Amino acid sequence: MTSSLELKGITKVFTDRKTGHQVRAVEDMSFSVAAGELVSVVGPSGCGKSTILNMVSGLYAPTEGEVLIDGEKVVGTRPEVGFMLQKDLLLPWRSIVKNVEFGLEEKKISKAERRERAMLELERMKLAEFADKYPHQLSGGMRQRAALARTLVIEPDIILLDEPFSALDAQTKLVLQRHFARTIAEAGVTCVLITHDLNEAVIMSDRVVCMSGRPGTVVDEFPIELGNRTDPLARSMESKCGNYVKRLFDLLHLEDQAA
Ligand SMILES: Nc1ncnc2c1ncn2[C@@H]1O[C@H](COP(=O)(O)OP(=O)(O)O)[C@@H](O)[C@H]1O
Ligand SMILES: [Mg+2]
Repeated sequence: MTSSLELKGITKVFTDRKTGHQVRAVEDMSFSVAAGELVSVVGPSGCGKSTILNMVSGLYAPTEGEVLIDGEKVVGTRPEVGFMLQKDLLLPWRSIVKNVEFGLEEKKISKAERRERAMLELERMKLAEFADKYPHQLSGGMRQRAALARTLVIEPDIILLDEPFSALDAQTKLVLQRHFARTIAEAGVTCVLITHDLNEAVIMSDRVVCMSGRPGTVVDEFPIELGNRTDPLARSMESKCGNYVKRLFDLLHLEDQAA
């Protein structure tokens, strides 16, 4: 199953409980993601990207507007939505396979089936031989693959990715982007990818949404018409790729910024 996602006029205001001080994080933000589509969201630091994902996941309620999944209003967290962050959030005291099984433990699934499904995901991530290792024994890239296995094992309809590659070195990132691109496309899952890497946004996505500075809102969105998104590296070599990156660079006014 895959689901469509729609944000309709979302505004989020945070109020500090002690001081009453208010921060307008997001303002009248609207965009949609079709079933099976991968949409990246880029924007300056602090413009409310993570806040948006938290609202889509149901962790935060919007101050105004609504998030719809398959036309239904999101009112809390739901198991069909998977979340992945820059930090892998693997439990250090559990082996890799036990970490992948974790999400299945709440469901009424036998121990044997849990193990079987977790191992299948680990094979898909080329991690089967590390099933009994612990997170600290794996590299950063392997831990992110394990985290994706844990996300996919619950068979989510939507995956929300908040800068999942940003802590990795450049080479690991390239390899992992390709691996993620293929796996996610195979699973046919609807995805929202938050990233501050403009090149990554272009090579990974069907469409890019560009946000303004805080309070964040949509300044532009456009489809990425490059080759199949299962091969981000090949896409990065297409001449049109650079044009898309430049378009985002201009939209974010990066020309005017001092390094
Ligand atoms: N739980 C929260 N309580 C108060 N303010 C928050 C909270 N989460 C985020 N903010 C504020 O909202 C703004 C947007 O934050 P965030 O969504 O993390 O931005 P981004 O992910 O784009 O860097 C920031 O000013 C941040 O300080
Ligand atoms: Mg963030």
